[in-house]
Amino acid sequence: MITVIGSLKGGSGKSTTSFNLAVWLLTQNFTTAIFDLDPQQTLADTAECRAEDNQQPALKVLSPRTRVQEKLIEANKTHTEVLVDIGNSNMSAAKTAYKVADRIVIPVLPSQSDVWSLQRFLKILDLLDTRPNLEIIVFVNRADTHHAVKETRETLIVLKQLPGITVVTKLLSQRLGFRRSFSEGMAIFELDPRGKAAAEFLFFAHALYPRRRRTKKASKKK
Ligand SMILES: Nc1ncnc2c1ncn2[C@@H]1O[C@H](COP(=O)(O)OP(=O)(O)OP(=O)(O)O)[C@@H](O)[C@H]1O
Ligand SMILES: [Mg+2]
Repeated sequence: MITVIGSLKGGSGKSTTSFNLAVWLLTQNFTTAIFDLDPQQTLADTAECRAEDNQQPALKVLSPRTRVQEKLIEANKTHTEVLVDIGNSNMSAAKTAYKVADRIVIPVLPSQSDVWSLQRFLKILDLLDTRPNLEIIVFVNRADTHHAVKETRETLIVLKQLPGITVVTKLLSQRLGFRRSFSEGMAIFELDPRGKAAAEFLFFAHALYPRRRRTKKASKKK
């Protein structure tokens, strides 16, 4: 299954999410092809940082410049999961990934302008020649941790009213651990396995890759 982590908005948490999911999928023993199609190469840099510390499992990050579509499709034949991090400074690579994606997972920050950006992004996707059964999954990243701050709740309410998308209610909060773990090349559940951020991330990862779905796909590959 090709999962693309995308959004129009810069800094919404695409690479952080891609990185943690990539490590998690490997720890779940899924053959996973990891693509970084962002010229900034954030995910590739984090993988390099991980390699320098010999942190296992090692991440092999692919950043093809040519025949991107073919390479994604090929990787999907030989791996159980394909995970793609995109960047908007190479819009043509991003669009290529959206066209072959089985699903696009979109991090949205809890603010009105981020919801507007999401709506524009959905319109762009609508105009692209994407797969007919494309799933669009949205989640709130950097959610407020203080109960008195109402933006996260309000954002979730608005998101649930948007047609054609699935909203994951397992959100990721604004936590220093995510930033720290990323810069150290360690997934949040490796850096601080007992922390709140790790618990949140694991709930989120299981919601995105439910066991039933994973088993079905794995047995199909046999
Ligand atoms: N849940 C979170 N809590 C705290 N910090 C976060 C969280 N998610 C992301 N960040 C931080 O926000 C910044 C942007 O995240 P990231 O690089 O993942 O975004 P991006 O969408 O990939 O950005 P770009 O559009 O530039 O590729 C980073 O400093 C990252 O550590
Ligand atoms: Mg990024």
